[in-house]
Amino acid sequence: MSERVPVRVVVNGEAHESAVEPRRLLVHLLRDDIGLTGTHVGCDTTNCGACTIHLDGVAVKSCTVLAVQADGGEVTTVEGLSGPDGGLHPMQEAFWEHHGLQCGYCTPGMIMAGVDLLKRDPDPSETDVRHALEGNLCRCTGYQNIVKAIQSAAQAARGAEVSA
Ligand code: FES
Ligand code: FES
Repeated sequence: MSERVPVRVVVNGEAHESAVEPRRLLVHLLRDDIGLTGTHVGCDTTNCGACTIHLDGVAVKSCTVLAVQADGGEVTTVEGLSGPDGGLHPMQEAFWEHHGLQCGYCTPGMIMAGVDLLKRDPDPSETDVRHALEGNLCRCTGYQNIVKAIQSAAQAARGAEVSA
């Protein structure tokens, strides 16, 4: 076994320190060491997007990032989206309301990709949403309701800004 190296990451606002093999993937640090199993592994070859998280505010596929590359970084997983009262994030609400999931395997990654898109583009067209989800595969839904959910979350967020 190769020598372990220390990794410090803040995950969903909580500091974590571990010693990992240099080859360890961030997704395995999150799921197996920290116990945040909401981040899924569908392929571990950068194809499916089920492992999408935010690293320093940007969506990344955590099967494509080494744990050591996240050292000193801030990670948000799907578990970190809920509010302080444990309520659903507006993007999660929108997926619920618009039936944006069936088996749910892709859903954490879709939601993290959707939240990332709205940070960059608060008013995405259907084409923009589909383009943003190109790296996230769903074998169940046909994508239609996922796209609707993300556009609805965008609309709700814009409405909240107008009325604020
Ligand atoms: S598990 Fe990371 S892209 Fe599929
Ligand atoms: S809901 Fe089953 S893979 Fe997307």
